[in-house]
Formats: sequence, C-alpha cells, structure tokens
Amino acid sequence: MSHPAALSSLRAAQRRSLELDQAIRENPSQYRVLTGDRPTGPLHVGHLFGSLLNRVRLQDLGVAVMVLVADYQALTDRDAPGTLPADTLSLVADYLATGIDPARSTIFAHSQVEALNQLLIPFLSLVSVAEVSRNPTVKEEFGATGGTSMSALMFSYPVHQAADILACHANLVPVGKDQLPHLELTRTIARRFNDRYGAGQPYFPEPDGLLTQAPLLLGLDGQKMSKSRSNAIPIGASDDETARLVRSARTDSLPGVSYEPEHRPQIANLLRLAGLCQDRTPQEIASEIGHGGATALKRFLTEALNERLRPVRARRRELAADPGYLRRVLAQGNDRARQIASQTLRDVRTLMHTVC
Ligand code: TRP
Repeated sequence: MSHPAALSSLRAAQRRSLELDQAIRENPSQYRVLTGDRPTGPLHVGHLFGSLLNRVRLQDLGVAVMVLVADYQALTDRDAPGTLPADTLSLVADYLATGIDPARSTIFAHSQVEALNQLLIPFLSLVSVAEVSRNPTVKEEFGATGGTSMSALMFSYPVHQAADILACHANLVPVGKDQLPHLELTRTIARRFNDRYGAGQPYFPEPDGLLTQAPLLLGLDGQKMSKSRSNAIPIGASDDETARLVRSARTDSLPGVSYEPEHRPQIANLLRLAGLCQDRTPQEIASEIGHGGATALKRFLTEALNERLRPVRARRRELAADPGYLRRVLAQGNDRARQIASQTLRDVRTLMHTVC
C-alpha cells in the first residue's frame, strides 16, 4: 500500500482502531464481534498471534464474540468436500484450545445458518458488478484468468462476508489491513439498506474494522505465511515437527544475529516470532543471541515456540480425542447463530415489504 491516498486511509483506520480499543475497554457490552476462518487446514502461529489471541482478549473483556467457520467459502478454493468435516472440527479444536470459551462466545458454521445465506439475495441487489469487481481479492482471482475459472461464488465472496457480519448484527470486525476493502463493502451495503429500507431509522450497524496490532509474520520461506504454501508452523504441530520446520527456515549468510527488518527480513521475522512467544521485543532477543548466529536463533525459537504452545497443544490433543464434544459445541453455536440470523431475516423481510 504505497499510494498516498491508500496510505492516508490506512493511517485513518489505525487511528480509529486505537480509539475503538479504548471505547471497547470502557463499554465492552456495546460491541459484537464477528470474525472467522475458512476450514482449509490447521491454523498456524500467524493466526494465533495475529488474530486468535485477540479474539480471546476481546472475549475476556466482555465483548460478545462470534466466530465463524466459513465452510461455504471453502468452496471457493476447492471443488471436492473430502476433508471438510475433519477440517471443520480441527478449526473448532484450534479455537477452543487457544481460549475461545463456548459458554461466552459463539462458534458456528455459516452453511448451517439458513437465514444468513438468504440475506445474500437482497444484499446482491445493493451493489453493482463494478463495485464487487474492484474488491482486491476478487480482482486478483479475476486477473489470473479473466474470470474463466473463477466461480460466481468467488465473485460474490465479499457480499457473502457482508451477510455473515450483518446477519449477526456485528459492529466490530477484527481485520488485517488487506481486508479493509471487504469491510468497506459491508459498510456500503449496510448504509444502502438503511437508506432504502430503514424508514428513517438505521437498521444495520455500519461495522468498524479493528486493525490487528500484531506485527505481520512471514512464512518460513520469507513469503506470506499461508496454510496453502506449507511455510507455516501449525499450532497443533508436535515439538519435533516444530524443530524441523524452524530448521528449514530461510535465513541469510551474514554473521551473527541482529534485528534489522529492512536488511535482514528473514532473521527479523524469526526474532519477531520468538518475541511474541516470550512477550519480549525482537531486539532483546537479538542481543541475547548476538554472535550465536542463525543456528542458535533457530534453537532458541524452537524452544520458545514449544514452551509457549505447550498448554495449547495439550488442550488441543484432549479436544481432538473427543470429536463428539467438538460437534456439540458447534451444534450449540449453530443454534444460537440461527436464532440471531432468523430475527435479522424477519426484520429485513418486514422492512423490505416482502411480507404482506
Ligand atoms: N474470509 C475469511 C477467510 O478467508 C473468513 C470469513 C468469512 C470472515 N466471512 C467473514 C472473516 C466475515 C471476517 C468476517 O478466512
């Protein structure tokens, strides 16, 4: 994001997020968060530090947190359901192991919430093809093939997200900066619905994006950390797998270890990750390792990760051994989301005069 206009809107979003953070602390019960992930494989440490722990923090502040297993969205990047049930339960296990508490927060799968999906129809009427085409994710998919291999579901993806968010009346969506445009479209949809059908009273909140404070973690190969690039450390990996993965991380050939994000991005990334595990700054860790070099840093990082993740992994193993419990948690969450979304759909039908 180097364009001056984009940069200034990013700055504005960052300022707004800081204000919001304060407001949430003062009045947590005013907020409802919606956030989620596609069930496309195990979550990794980038998710843990970038979003999962923030969800737990918000939950613990007293915010209503709804976490979505975006299983219909998984259809945008696969055409066979094969591993979907296992991936869904694994996602629920990741959520619970990292501290999402099903007694306070709601975990649900959007394919199971009929009313949510039905909102897609009126919402599609509120945006133009040109507006959806401008969404960066859609644009990227479209760009590769001119749309020939992009499904229409992929095209409607940002509108579907708006349905996820607005069906739940969420007013807060934790996002990375790359997702701000999605949220902008959700806000547009809410505003247009309110203008057209609200009868003078806004019905949908215009949700705010809460930008993650966590630094962006790169994958072990120096590229974006991603489930599909096999360059990530899964939360549920064993100690040995973690050691192996960290050993495979790219570094550089300079001597010693120093925190220089511009010159030594891979080393800086490993230092940042170790820092997150230990609640310390990357600089502190760099000076501790200093002359030890990349091998010492990798050994240090493996230790730090395994130590930090030990309780999460133990809990995750217990949960994975009890799929019946994971299914019950999800079924309860689905019921609760159904109640909320059905009420929204009833209201929407009334406001749109499709009930006579
Ligand atoms: N798109 C997100 C992902 O790719 C998942 C998601 C679906 C989501 N709907 C959402 C996130 C609504 C936040 C809000 O993982």
